[in-house]
Amino acid sequence: MWDERYADKEYVYGTEPNTFLAKHADKLNGPVLSIAEGEGRNAVFLATGGLDVLGVDGSEVGLQKAQQLAQSKGVNIHTEVADLAEFTPKENHYGAIISISAHLPPAIRQRLYPLLERSLKPGGILLLEAYSEDQLGKETGGPNNIDMLMSKQKIENEFPNLHPLLLQELDREIHEGKFHTGIASVVQFIGQKKHNK
Ligand SMILES: C[S@@+](CC[C@H](N)C(=O)[O-])C[C@H]1O[C@@H](n2cnc3c(N)ncnc32)[C@H](O)[C@@H]1O
Repeated sequence: MWDERYADKEYVYGTEPNTFLAKHADKLNGPVLSIAEGEGRNAVFLATGGLDVLGVDGSEVGLQKAQQLAQSKGVNIHTEVADLAEFTPKENHYGAIISISAHLPPAIRQRLYPLLERSLKPGGILLLEAYSEDQLGKETGGPNNIDMLMSKQKIENEFPNLHPLLLQELDREIHEGKFHTGIASVVQFIGQKKHNK
């Protein structure tokens, strides 16, 4: 499904970074892991700011476009094609992890999220924006499946070892390519790994 979507020559989520990420990028240190990176807009943005970034995604086509975008902007990014159901990030390694519109079924989150916590260095930051459960039935983006939509409660339960620096649900305008197209309900989270974990 994702390879098909990305077969379009156009960048379907645009080439500009997610605006929540752009607003808070100054809080992030490298190396950065970006899960479900897609066509590279967020990884390339962070690399342009001097950060070392690994973008992981299941779509080879998406990550090829990510590398083309990096080349066109004169920066390097690392990419890895992997199913997040099986991906194991390096332990105690990342200064930051980003998860932008990375909607995963509960079984994948249950396995992956503890591994993400483990892969952050103490003090490291996880920055996440996802469509919230209030987005169900709206046609401005995100999966039409409540189990894959997020909430503050799910974030609190699923990232117990991160201290929330910001955790909110809100409606906001998102115009990021042709699939994210207007007022949308989202959850935004910036969590910091506790020093004793
Ligand atoms: C809505 S797109 C977001 C892409 C990117 N984060 C952005 O903001 O432009 C969701 C991405 O999740 C990836 N994805 C979904 N399920 C995945 C899985 N199980 N393993 C790896 N990638 C997955 C898709 O390939 C797709 O690139």
